Amino acid sequence: MSWIKEQSPEDKDKQELIKSTGKIPQHIAIIMDGNGRWANQQGKQRLFGHREGIESVRDIVNAASLIGVKHLTLYAFSIENWKRPPMEVNGLMKLLEIFLQKEFKELNENQVVINTIGKTNSLPKSVQKILRDSYEKTKDNSGLHLNLAISYGSRWDIMRAIQMIALDVRGGKLSPEDITDELFSSYLQTANIPDPDLLIRTSGEYRISNFLLWELAYSEIYFTEKLWPEFRRDELYSALMDYARRERRFGKTSSQINESTEQSYLKKVIDVIKRK
Ligand code: IPE
Ligand code: IPE
Ligand code: MG
Repeated sequence: MSWIKEQSPEDKDKQELIKSTGKIPQHIAIIMDGNGRWANQQGKQRLFGHREGIESVRDIVNAASLIGVKHLTLYAFSIENWKRPPMEVNGLMKLLEIFLQKEFKELNENQVVINTIGKTNSLPKSVQKILRDSYEKTKDNSGLHLNLAISYGSRWDIMRAIQMIALDVRGGKLSPEDITDELFSSYLQTANIPDPDLLIRTSGEYRISNFLLWELAYSEIYFTEKLWPEFRRDELYSALMDYARRERRFGKTSSQINESTEQSYLKKVIDVIKRK
């Protein structure tokens, strides 16, 4: 089923408004937090919250894809989450598998690339297989890159990259002077994925929880009190409107940023005049 055909006219208008800002993040990363508390509020088991959280995943993937976001990275399960009670961990693994089985066809039809970052060899074999197959079958798609962070921890990723670089130096493939920002990034699980422009964390927690420590160096951060199961496309639109109003300075001054925007605008106008 094509997501464009299913989209309501009101939703289309909202998306057009956001697009008109010209400031759609290329990469959004989300710490999807608050499923357990949401379930508690309903007097239900935590797993009930995780199940409802999947509905938010479906809605956000769909909206992000339609609006033209290129990369969406979802923190679904951290390395630290292995410390949770086995019943919850097993339930989460099962839900992940069911989600991929159920949604694969529609995601693929809508050109989504399903990628995984994390220490996947700790996952049950069946989950590893479905993640591998999903990537193999979708890797040439042209749409949204959905990066699922599963059994992911940024310190683990950074340590692993350092070990691999050290091995390559010892093996004579690299010399220490070759180690630059770019080279280091290329050894991470997120190699080939641009750094996130926008990080969203739900549930009113103000921390990073070992997520993308290197990659978030200059990301804009948006915190919301909404619990993940309540975070649907309209919440995403609020985050995007907030993002569009921000000025990303990357260490420069505000007037430098405005000057360069004015200059590039002027350059565009001159180019158009020249072409006429
Ligand atoms: C986020 O919700 C999902 C995962 C970490 C898997 P939580 O399960 O952390 O929910 P809270 O934070 O306990 O409410
Ligand atoms: C972060 O949520 C990990 C995911 C959303 C998958 P947690 O709920 O595990 O984070 P902490 O432990 O409260 O920081
Ligand atoms: Mg939590």
